[in-house]
Amino acid sequence: NKYATILAGGGGTRFWPLSRQEIPKQLLNISGNDIMLNDTIERFKGIIPQENTVIVTNRTQAVLLESIMHSSVLKANILIEPVARNTAASILFAALSIEKSHGNSLMVVLPSDHYITDEEQFRLTLDEACTVAMESDKIVTIGIKPTFPSTGYGYIAFDKTPIATSPVAVYDVDEFVEKPNFQNAQSYLASGNYLWNSGIFIWQTSVIIDNFKRYLPRLYKTMLPISDCLGTDQEEEVINAIYPTLQNISIDYGILERSDEVVVLSGQFGWNDIGSWDALGSIFPPDDAGNIIKANHVGIDTHNSIIYGNGRLITTIGVDGFIIADTGDALLICPKDKAQSVKDIVELLKEQG
Ligand code: GDD
Ligand code: MG
Repeated sequence: NKYATILAGGGGTRFWPLSRQEIPKQLLNISGNDIMLNDTIERFKGIIPQENTVIVTNRTQAVLLESIMHSSVLKANILIEPVARNTAASILFAALSIEKSHGNSLMVVLPSDHYITDEEQFRLTLDEACTVAMESDKIVTIGIKPTFPSTGYGYIAFDKTPIATSPVAVYDVDEFVEKPNFQNAQSYLASGNYLWNSGIFIWQTSVIIDNFKRYLPRLYKTMLPISDCLGTDQEEEVINAIYPTLQNISIDYGILERSDEVVVLSGQFGWNDIGSWDALGSIFPPDDAGNIIKANHVGIDTHNSIIYGNGRLITTIGVDGFIIADTGDALLICPKDKAQSVKDIVELLKEQG
């Protein structure tokens, strides 16, 4: 039994005004191909049956999600959280639900906010990760060679001697550090001993549930009544009552940093967490002037900018290094090096109602 669990409950506030509370990043078509959630499902075709897809999402997004999601996903496999309680809760919710319906199963956890260029290589790596997880009691992660000292990712220190080398390298993990400060990120990058955590995890449900019992026992115990009521008439009532009381912690801090049963596969498939506007450069090659233009745009002396529109004509003169995103009812103008601060605007808007 192989099941994919897609985490699709995040807000993606750094993509405002394109992403809103009701339309988060994973439900946007940023690549020009399909919405990110559906790209995620399409990507594991041939490795995990598409009908074995479990999606964990938020109540505010569920209606829209169900209307645009991949047709192979069964409605019964959409787990709806009444409130967001971070990724540890979402993962445990899915693991207990899968184990209850299908017994101990292989579980692949995938974020829904990624872009991958070499899908063939991705499938090869995922397939190998499934084999490793099936033949061991390990938490299997996929690491990406870091290219800059990001403070937004997890870092995985790997043991120099690989456990396996073919078809992809597999290493024991010495240390997992979630979102380090800039100084540490710089030294991890320089050491050559760390990989970025891709956020893709592979394990048996029994293994991850054991890890929850050990490292997040309170979360585990609080969640149990939910698992007991799944499929009964009380289901919704119990979930509504319990979910808000669950510990709010990510899987990275809650389990990955604490467990010593972690291995990492080296993933080399062109991975991008398209976290903010400035990251669009990694999926769309800039034109000769360094611009990425997805808009009806006419410009003079416009360089190194990202211009995203909804049809209305956008004109620029003497603009360098800016993000301009127009959705018709909202307009963002922001220097590229402030792209991370877009989430602060969203906060400010919330405060001001
Ligand atoms: N259902 C649900 N509920 N999904 C959630 C929730 C929640 O409460 N919170 C986050 N998610 C989803 C997001 O939509 C995303 O697909 C995934 O879980 C990861 O959450 P992010 O909020 O995007 O995490 P991150 O990017 O800061 O960090 C994680 O991913 C990095 C790689 O992209 C960590 O795992 C890092 O270690 C990792 O490097
Ligand atoms: Mg992310």
